[in-house]
Amino acid sequence: MLGCERASLAYTDGERTTYALRDVTVTLAPGRFYGIMGPSGSGKSSLLYVLSGLKPPTEGSARFGGFVYNQHSSADVTRLRREKFGFVFQQPFLMSYLTVAENVVLAAPQVDRAARDKAARFLDDLGLSDMIHKFPSQLSGGEKQRVSVARAMMNDPEVIFADEPTASLDHANGHRVVDTLAAWRTRGTVVVVTHDPEMLADADEVLLLRDGVLVESRPPESLPSEPKALHRTGTVAPI
Ligand SMILES: Nc1ncnc2c1ncn2[C@@H]1O[C@H](COP(=O)(O)OP(=O)(O)OP(=O)(O)O)[C@@H](O)[C@H]1O
Ligand SMILES: [Mg+2]
Repeated sequence: MLGCERASLAYTDGERTTYALRDVTVTLAPGRFYGIMGPSGSGKSSLLYVLSGLKPPTEGSARFGGFVYNQHSSADVTRLRREKFGFVFQQPFLMSYLTVAENVVLAAPQVDRAARDKAARFLDDLGLSDMIHKFPSQLSGGEKQRVSVARAMMNDPEVIFADEPTASLDHANGHRVVDTLAAWRTRGTVVVVTHDPEMLADADEVLLLRDGVLVESRPPESLPSEPKALHRTGTVAPI
């Protein structure tokens, strides 16, 4: 089980302290697809960083199974992350001097024929089969984002963390990305941050954050179908 217990993440800048997360306790099970929603600045990316061990919480703890991150060296946490987790960051980082296919294949633990076939299959699933020989500078933002989704799956991760993977995609490609990620739940846990409730129609559970606080966890059918509703009210409580 992936989770955090009473986790807070505070940033101190001189006299001022900002809480990106406050006292968050959550458990995420394998075989499930979780959505994380909330207004901008509510702590969604911070929660992904804490759950994945990328950032140690300033209070509380986070863990993957029996592996409690703050009981291990940062080198061990990095190794766990590399072996067990896949990431799609809010800003896709691709190697500019490698082609699309190379960017994806190189994320495999072993670069061989099987890895190349797997990369081609993922890229095809994501509608990128015509792009495999292109370089990142020749791609749109949404195409780069899809390449980073393919890359995140190459090490057969037990958890995929995706931070707004559909933000720069049109409707059809957004669904294609979410369907690809959602299908991964047969192999592990999928955690997707998004502003668009429509992308979470198939999620098992949606975590709602507000000002760093986990305000609610609910099934996706109770989310509004119109994305702006969350922001129009300035609060997640009434939806
Ligand atoms: N390095 C930092 N130093 C200081 N404050 C930070 C830092 N990173 C994030 N914050 C603050 O922590 C809060 C939560 O940030 P976070 O990036 O987790 O929000 P978010 O919900 O992912 O927002 P968005 O939807 O815009 O991506 C915000 O108020 C942000 O300004
Ligand atoms: Mg964010």
